[in-house]
Amino acid sequence: MHVPVILVGAMTKDRVIGQGDKMPWDIPEEYQTFIDNIRGQTVVMGRKSYDVFGPDLTSAYAIVVSRGDPDVSVPVAHGIDKALKLAHSYGKKVFVAGGSQIYELALPHANRMYLSEIKQDYAGDRYFPEFDRQQWQIVREDEHARFIYREWKRLG
Ligand SMILES: NC(=O)c1ccc[n+]([C@@H]2O[C@H](COP(=O)([O-])OP(=O)(O)OC[C@H]3O[C@@H](n4cnc5c(N)ncnc54)[C@H](OP(=O)(O)O)[C@@H]3O)[C@@H](O)[C@H]2O)c1
Repeated sequence: MHVPVILVGAMTKDRVIGQGDKMPWDIPEEYQTFIDNIRGQTVVMGRKSYDVFGPDLTSAYAIVVSRGDPDVSVPVAHGIDKALKLAHSYGKKVFVAGGSQIYELALPHANRMYLSEIKQDYAGDRYFPEFDRQQWQIVREDEHARFIYREWKRLG
């Protein structure tokens, strides 16, 4: 694969990423790092997350993953393989921005992760998948007031 696949998102120490359709926190500084990362790049997102975050993705080339035919103004891919193939054809960086189901499907394809760890604990029912930390190395870490931003690279 010529272009890295980058998972991007924010989670608590317990890997909570969402509660129902929503994110459990409102941390504008963290959300801005996400928006800055994806600007001008390609973003693959699950249909449920796109329903909520789609309006914020106008600066990026969005692709929605769905089994159906949702009424959206961006391309729809019926599976992660098709989504990543289309994403690679754009020649931009390829980000996968959740939610839980789509992170799970994309993790085996990913060789980078840009993840913010939210310092405060929040309850939720959507999680980032577990990953083997032995297979990943932190290549950047920035401390912020309410979160720690880390860039991870897959080893080997
Ligand atoms: N903290 C963060 O950084 C972050 C980022 C993004 C999202 N979130 C949170 O994540 C939660 C949403 O995650 P979620 O897991 O419920 O939903 P999701 O991953 O956003 O979307 C799930 C949808 O993806 C489609 N899908 C799933 N598997 C598929 C497959 N094998 N082939 C084709 N399509 C498939 C289906 O769409 P159809 O139903 O249309 O078929 C499914 O309903 C929300 O709470 C959101 O706030 C958090």
